[in-house]
Amino acid sequence: MTGASLQRAEVVASGGSPFALDDEGAYRAWRERKLAAYPRSVEELFVDIADPAALTTFEHAAIRERCARANMAIYILAGTPRDEKAQRAAVLALGPQLGLTAVEDHRSRDNDGLVAIEVVETGGRLGYIPYTSRPIAWHTDGYYNFHGPERAVQAMLLHCMRDADGGDNRLLDHEIAYIRLRDEDPAHIAALMHPEAMSIPENVEPDGKVRPVNVGPVFYIDPRTGALGMRYTARTRSIAWREDAATQRAVAALSRILVDETLTLSTRMRPGMGLVCNNVLHDRTGFAEGSSGGRLVYRIRYHGLIA
Ligand SMILES: [Fe+2]
Repeated sequence: MTGASLQRAEVVASGGSPFALDDEGAYRAWRERKLAAYPRSVEELFVDIADPAALTTFEHAAIRERCARANMAIYILAGTPRDEKAQRAAVLALGPQLGLTAVEDHRSRDNDGLVAIEVVETGGRLGYIPYTSRPIAWHTDGYYNFHGPERAVQAMLLHCMRDADGGDNRLLDHEIAYIRLRDEDPAHIAALMHPEAMSIPENVEPDGKVRPVNVGPVFYIDPRTGALGMRYTARTRSIAWREDAATQRAVAALSRILVDETLTLSTRMRPGMGLVCNNVLHDRTGFAEGSSGGRLVYRIRYHGLIA
């Protein structure tokens, strides 16, 4: 079962969502199963794939199984490295097989929906941290562009074309962050589910466009699936937290949890490896450009969950 269907089943079984603060029983039961099943090493997320354009029943089930446990899977393409065009096509073919069809309309996407994450010196991507070799702090994708659960980035795929010295990713299922926060104090959850918990102030983008203020919760529930979503960034610039004491405490707790959470998994993706996930928390270390032509990772984001 996927994370989403697991939660739906529990709504029926227990009469309440595990994410409802007034249903401690549903939460406890879900929490116990979640922590017991959660991968203890990044290798548990790995799934070998022979042909990404045509997943076998076994490969498909293996990806779903990882996603049910951790909201993410890491695939490894078999065989000799394909050329760039073939890998682009392979990445694009994966999402729909996992139920991902609604591609986010991103300003930096190419016509096929892929965004090339690489160091740039010119063009529309210039000025944004992902397109440098600098580290990227903990975040979920698309946190700055929230217009309700229906239009949120709920899933995404990262595919490594070329690696570098560095550029490692740490990964943490946002449901684990939720558990740590709720266990510490359910008031943290209440504060972070507030519809005005996190604001991205109006900003003039490097490309000159004005991005209006974007306000929303950190944790939200998708009413269609009952799934938990999260928007977050550990950045301290261009971010305004709700100015009440409960929110400040919750944000401090979350940044502390992300420093020393033992269930955090870490990996450096090699060419032909990729992450498929329900928009889990992740970061990236800085990297030095090697002689391989520079680090290149393709990314595609979706509305909707890995089904
Ligand atoms: Fe990201």
